[in-house]
Amino acid sequence: MIYSEFMKRPYVILNAAMTVDGKIATRAGDSQISCPADLKRLHRLRSRVDAVMVGAGTILSDDPSLTVRRVKGRNPLRVVVDGRARVPPTARVFRGGPPTVVAVGSRAPRSRIEGLRRVAEVWVFSGPPIDLRELLAKLYARGVKRLLLEGGSTLNWHMMRSGLVDELRVSISPRVVGGESAKTLVGGEGFARVSEGVRLKLRQIQRVGRDLLLVFEVRGSGASKNC
Ligand SMILES: NC(=O)c1ccc[n+]([C@@H]2O[C@H](COP(=O)([O-])OP(=O)(O)OC[C@H]3O[C@@H](n4cnc5c(N)ncnc54)[C@H](OP(=O)(O)O)[C@@H]3O)[C@@H](O)[C@H]2O)c1
Repeated sequence: MIYSEFMKRPYVILNAAMTVDGKIATRAGDSQISCPADLKRLHRLRSRVDAVMVGAGTILSDDPSLTVRRVKGRNPLRVVVDGRARVPPTARVFRGGPPTVVAVGSRAPRSRIEGLRRVAEVWVFSGPPIDLRELLAKLYARGVKRLLLEGGSTLNWHMMRSGLVDELRVSISPRVVGGESAKTLVGGEGFARVSEGVRLKLRQIQRVGRDLLLVFEVRGSGASKNC
């Protein structure tokens, strides 16, 4: 479905860096895939959105700060989807910039929720799983009109499957890393049939340093011709 303001949710851009074989990290969790020029592009994109969102797995694996550092610009609101409140209060995402929002499920351990409250703004939803549509509506009400989804694999799947991604920006690094357990761009349970998959329309192809950036518009899921 094409995005409209009437949806009362932010316009969502999913950005990721992957190898030619579709991996966003190696089997050991190394996700340093982008070249310097692509990292600069990512930081510029961050400075132009209202919020950046990641899943708990990305915080636990990469400990990113999600701030704007490689270009001049303001830091967006940072949002972590953490159904079981697994993210430690010492994570970098809670330092510098505006307070980070952590979306947790009401069934998460109370002590961990309280620990997060000391360093972040904690929003409690029913679950896990958290209803991502509800989270996006709450972010929209808070003034978030453009949201950058920065992974990882599992959250990308939940957002894609729920029809909550409007644009996909994938930078492809000229490397192959293999590995059955290495995370791919979109993980989760996956669709059984290609015809069920999310349909994309290619909008832009651009060389960024040694990487190749592809920008797609998300057209929705369900049946259509493959080509
Ligand atoms: N190359 C890139 O561009 C890039 C970018 C980002 C990440 N990565 C890589 O991706 C990997 C991490 O991916 P991942 O799949 O393990 O983790 P992830 O997608 O970052 O986080 C998954 C976790 O998010 C929480 N979550 C997701 N949807 C939820 C929902 N609807 N309700 C409640 N909680 C929800 C769950 O936490 P609970 O299980 O606690 O409920 C889930 O386990 C890392 O290796 C990282 O390096 C690469």
